[in-house]
Amino acid sequence: MTYTPELLEQIKIVEATRPQRLGQTFPAMPLEERQELLKKFHPDYLESGMREVRVGSYKGNRMPVELADVVEGRPHVDPHFDLSAPDFETDVLVIGGGGAGASAALLAQENGAKVVLITKLRFGDANTMMAQGGIQAADRPEDSPATHYLDVIGGGHFTNFPDLVEALVKDAPIVIAWLESLGVMFDKTPDGVMMEEHGGGTSIKRMHSARDYTGAEIMRVLRDEVRNRPNIDVIEFCPAVELVLDDQGAVCGAILMNLETERYFYAKAKVVILATGGSGRLHYQGFPTTNHYGATGDGIVLAYRAGAELVFLDTMQYHPTGAAYPEQILGQLVTEKVRGLGAQPLNIKGEQFVYPLEPRDVEAAAFIRECKERKLGVITPSGQPAVWLDTPMIDLIHGPGTIEKALPAMVRQFKRFNIDMVRQPILVYPTLHYQNGGVKIDADCRTTVPGLLVAGETSGGVHGRNRLMGNSLLDVCVFGRRAGITAAMLAKERQPGKPTLAHLESWNRALDEIGLNGAVRSPILIPNYARKG
Ligand code: FUM
Repeated sequence: MTYTPELLEQIKIVEATRPQRLGQTFPAMPLEERQELLKKFHPDYLESGMREVRVGSYKGNRMPVELADVVEGRPHVDPHFDLSAPDFETDVLVIGGGGAGASAALLAQENGAKVVLITKLRFGDANTMMAQGGIQAADRPEDSPATHYLDVIGGGHFTNFPDLVEALVKDAPIVIAWLESLGVMFDKTPDGVMMEEHGGGTSIKRMHSARDYTGAEIMRVLRDEVRNRPNIDVIEFCPAVELVLDDQGAVCGAILMNLETERYFYAKAKVVILATGGSGRLHYQGFPTTNHYGATGDGIVLAYRAGAELVFLDTMQYHPTGAAYPEQILGQLVTEKVRGLGAQPLNIKGEQFVYPLEPRDVEAAAFIRECKERKLGVITPSGQPAVWLDTPMIDLIHGPGTIEKALPAMVRQFKRFNIDMVRQPILVYPTLHYQNGGVKIDADCRTTVPGLLVAGETSGGVHGRNRLMGNSLLDVCVFGRRAGITAAMLAKERQPGKPTLAHLESWNRALDEIGLNGAVRSPILIPNYARKG
């Protein structure tokens, strides 16, 4: 696969406008225009893409149709499942093997708890591993957590929960130092100073990176650390399918499923931390996704059935630059760092039509408008609308070799298909990237259900209605660490009562009352297209 002759012809138009575009950036959009654009073109606003949930405390609130279907699913296990003999007991059960789960396990262990971390797939099969561009932290003298705070809530359209944002930005420099002390190799200048770049919606450069595989680098180190600590056991391929409550209504463990034998078993714990990530693999409105295969919204389903409050689930993040060509990598992430380094988004006439670093929702909506309303997008051979991202500008701005040095994984990804992004622009279109909302937490990761803590993408509130780049890797570390500390503290105080799945009886009754017959069993665990047989 390479560019077709038609696309090569269109690239000539991009090349022709390049000299005049160098040094010329499209102006940022005024606030009112942003709001109008979002309402008209962002997928969150498409009426048919959302519906109200019909059961539980979030009843009457909108969420994507596909998520509502799994939230209203039937449990895997019978409410009378035998809980008399747990298969194992621990102080803290961490459900999820990404950045939040690993950080939580480490801090819970450091604070004296015995920890078991269970994962649905392999330890590290998570969105953290796939994060590319970087992690934000205000750790330079000319920056401050207060400026970071303003950027975060501006990006979230002032809907973010202030206490969570405060925790995020204040812990950020601590997190960078912690990761470095564990062995994360951040990009540095030859004299040892951290290299920091802009992301969309940031007023100052504070994006720390490890080339364009920052998440993989962080996950490599966190996973190693977990594996090498005493008092942390890791069990892979064992997803949680239900939370267990005690007779006081507090969480006291989970029902796990051995994916190989399909046997269910009870894991007893004084505290449970849910860190199962997001839900991109539900492919809202048919969008492709940047997410890993396990991102099926399991944490939302589990926490909600146990009675936890949810927030902002009517807002999802569509990353502006998913690969649109070739088809084999449709929807895969093209990091925002590419625009951070100077690549401009262009329409079929080689014209700039949007400031390259608007907050993500605005940037994505502008791409959709360019293709759908203005009809100035490029159509790929498979009929996919797209806009150009003029990557060769990066070397023209920063000097030859910059792209290969800063974006080696991206260069390789396109080279596999004979596309040379150093010399040729690439085609991109929005892709489903992140779940902005989730389970409501406080700054110590407590939910509205005692004994249940949530961290990372499963939680909601810190990013409000739109997350900025680099605040997700930060979120998983900040709130993963906080969840670990809170869990260890709670584990010292808590003595769980008699375990029960009575909440499933009420849940099933509520489904019966609205005539839901159990067609969907949830959490769905793996995407529909990945099922065997
Ligand atoms: O564009 C990116 O590299 C994505 C980063 C993020 O979602 O934080």
